[in-house]
Amino acid sequence: MTRLNKYLADHGVGSRRECDKLIADGAVTVNGKVAALGMSVSESDHVALNGKRVGDKQKLCYILLHKPKGYVTTVKDDLGRKTVMDLVHVNARLYPVGRLDYDTEGLLILTNDGALANRLTHPRNEVDKTYIARISGILTESERLALERGVVIDGTKTAPATVRILSGDSHRTRCEVKIHEGRNHQVKKMFQAVGKEVEFLKRVAVGELRLGGLKRGEYRFLTEKETEYLKNL
Ligand code: URA
Repeated sequence: MTRLNKYLADHGVGSRRECDKLIADGAVTVNGKVAALGMSVSESDHVALNGKRVGDKQKLCYILLHKPKGYVTTVKDDLGRKTVMDLVHVNARLYPVGRLDYDTEGLLILTNDGALANRLTHPRNEVDKTYIARISGILTESERLALERGVVIDGTKTAPATVRILSGDSHRTRCEVKIHEGRNHQVKKMFQAVGKEVEFLKRVAVGELRLGGLKRGEYRFLTEKETEYLKNL
């Protein structure tokens, strides 16, 4: 149990003296009844100031999901397709940070921390994203360099990127692509700009966060260290 003025102060309402004044003024209720000076409360009590609950903070939750293809990256889909929300079973109202195409798989962060989600997706704060792309045909050295220097998609040149060829034969090439921006269908459009079609696309890292050994459809909670890392980006 905690003294009510301390409970209010700990939840950022004001100093204990200011909180005492609010209690004395009858602005605070506990479980619906006007509170009395000097009373104690617990976290399970419903404490309200001018009718608005104090201490009702949703616990912040950060999840790393291995999105399989065949799922849309939205909370709800108008066409009734499966969404990434069908894969994650936690007691919080999460939403995805950024998006992956329906047929793209890989690392997706989900959170209920709106401030962090906004910061991570703001163009000014874009973090490096690493993809494995399999494309049809051979990627020539001049095409690879063009992708790294920037190609025009939707009328604007892409920012410098890193493109490494991992393996390939005369039919297909596997590349690792690291981009800093997050434009719509960016990787596919970049390859399209050099005449190549992406057959398979998987995001393996966002900044220093890696997909690791997670299987398709599996997810895990971010560690405290990973959460701090994202907040400090
Ligand atoms: N680039 C794409 O083309 N698609 C994605 O899903 C992500 C990056």
